[in-house]
Amino acid sequence: MIFITKLVLSPVTFGGYRQPLRKANGMRNGGHKYDYNPIETDVVIVGAGAAGLRAAIELAREGVDVLVLGKRRHGDAHTVWAAGGINASLGNLDSDDRWEIHAADTIGEGHFVNDPRAVEILAREAPDRILELRDWGCPFSLTEDGELNQRYFGAQSFRRTCFAGDMTGEAILGTLVAKAKEEGVSYLEDVYVTKLLKSGGRVNGAAGFDMQSGRRLLFGARAVVLAAGGYTSIYRRGSSRPDENNGDAMALAYEAGAALKDMEFVQFHPTGMIEPEGMDGRLVTEAVRGEGGRLYNSEGERFMERYSPKHMELDARDVVARANYREIREGRGTPDGAVLLDISHCDPDYIKDRLPNMYEQFVEQGVDITEKPMKVSPTAHYGMGGIEVDPRTCATAVEGLFAVGESTAGVHGANRLGGNSLAETVVFGKILGSHLADVLDDDLLPPVPLDEGAVQEHFAALDVLAAGTGGGERDPGELIDELRDLVWVHAGIVRTDDGLREGIVKLRDLKERAGELAISDASPSRRFEHVLNLRAMLTAAEAVMRGALAREESRGAHHREDFPEEADGWQKNILCARDEGGDMYLWTEPVGEVPAEIRKALDEDYSLDYHYLE
Ligand code: FUM
Repeated sequence: MIFITKLVLSPVTFGGYRQPLRKANGMRNGGHKYDYNPIETDVVIVGAGAAGLRAAIELAREGVDVLVLGKRRHGDAHTVWAAGGINASLGNLDSDDRWEIHAADTIGEGHFVNDPRAVEILAREAPDRILELRDWGCPFSLTEDGELNQRYFGAQSFRRTCFAGDMTGEAILGTLVAKAKEEGVSYLEDVYVTKLLKSGGRVNGAAGFDMQSGRRLLFGARAVVLAAGGYTSIYRRGSSRPDENNGDAMALAYEAGAALKDMEFVQFHPTGMIEPEGMDGRLVTEAVRGEGGRLYNSEGERFMERYSPKHMELDARDVVARANYREIREGRGTPDGAVLLDISHCDPDYIKDRLPNMYEQFVEQGVDITEKPMKVSPTAHYGMGGIEVDPRTCATAVEGLFAVGESTAGVHGANRLGGNSLAETVVFGKILGSHLADVLDDDLLPPVPLDEGAVQEHFAALDVLAAGTGGGERDPGELIDELRDLVWVHAGIVRTDDGLREGIVKLRDLKERAGELAISDASPSRRFEHVLNLRAMLTAAEAVMRGALAREESRGAHHREDFPEEADGWQKNILCARDEGGDMYLWTEPVGEVPAEIRKALDEDYSLDYHYLE
């Protein structure tokens, strides 16, 4: 066992603003070449986006030593790409709005497989968390009265989405970074976490490497939090940044023994860019439609009249995405495979004020959106599935392991309301932080030594990979491309039994070939990172495809051409975990009861009639 006891000066450069971290003596392990230098703290958070930072802030405020590990520069997490807004039933513009209606909209959009406990927490707590962000200096757009402004977003009964232009995620993350600094949260950049470490069934650390130097890194902690995003990069077209949202969090949790839930529910955002090549799939925010944007096909028809005459362009994302997909597939798209999103009927100054980033994003491509429509087509945007947690604590079933944000499943069910993901990060980040601080305070997770054998074994496996002794000379980038194509084709917007089965066979073959990958040099390289990304992506893809095959119905974002209707018998969650032989197994669980207040709001049906807006 590795015991982390003696404090020595750390040779690792930390960001952060106080010195909570205890650095143990480097250890020579039985003549092994690794110099472990474990870094010990109370809580390690894997992921430096809004969810991870909000949890870290709460922990630090409670006096817990916390270390945030990010893959990129601090303040440059994927949250910065979240555009259109964050939901809370503040009722600033529509005073009839209430948390119960927000919850009802969330459950309706989630097609009744959300965890009702999670939904209630989200809807009740979001107003406080957003006002708190405002008080911490988040530059939200304001009304003339100085209240937080709120815009329409798809499938929401009222104007409920607070925003900072169309760069809401960036504004929120900047605020959280500043607050974390004030609270003395420590962080480490360029860290790739490759394994969660366990002793006696409890997660008590993590292993990984420094992405710049290749140096192996080892962390000992009383608890580990996964806040490392989602898994939509397994798709050919997606709105994620390159090399992010590969399913790292899901794969780490799965390998540590936690269950994954509802992985088959993947949201396709209706509007992604189609060109130029490097921008393919890039988000065109729903705020364009929230501010009045209209969809047309190549025949000039405003086709949402046919698909959703009441809700039009502001219907649920799955409905609008499938409409766009069908128009394109049935030959009514542009020759290059898009439909047209037009907001040019609005005042140019209004467009530039409300959608400054969209305006710039398209001007850079030679399109002035105040004059011309945008070419758009669906893009993989968000995984509703993820690690199973208890929403009241964010604890997984594995002792010592917690998860938060897009890494988790539950709150969104079969489809997510735009604006609910940013709300989820701050609501559940705070819940996790408060709960975990109490657990540590009560000494329910006392420090336990790392398992030296497991550490050695893992670092040796990384060395084998880095040295290329696994044989073969395939390029991991090519296999990642192959995986993305196959998931797009076989588990995309529309799925079938035959297509999924064929995809699963191809995935198995790809997995075997991935096992033969060689890196051929030990230095840190994109190639090494890509091999590890591929491993995580394979786990996520298997969970998505097997869940999609098992779910013989259509529900929310999961659409089966061979089972086009929602089936009452399938109002349940699909979970998966790893058996002792290392294979994935699946099972189902019933969904909890919807609380009476939310049920009442559902029955009252507040859903918006789009035509009132025009
Ligand atoms: O379209 C958007 O701005 C996306 C927002 C969201 O997914 O929450």
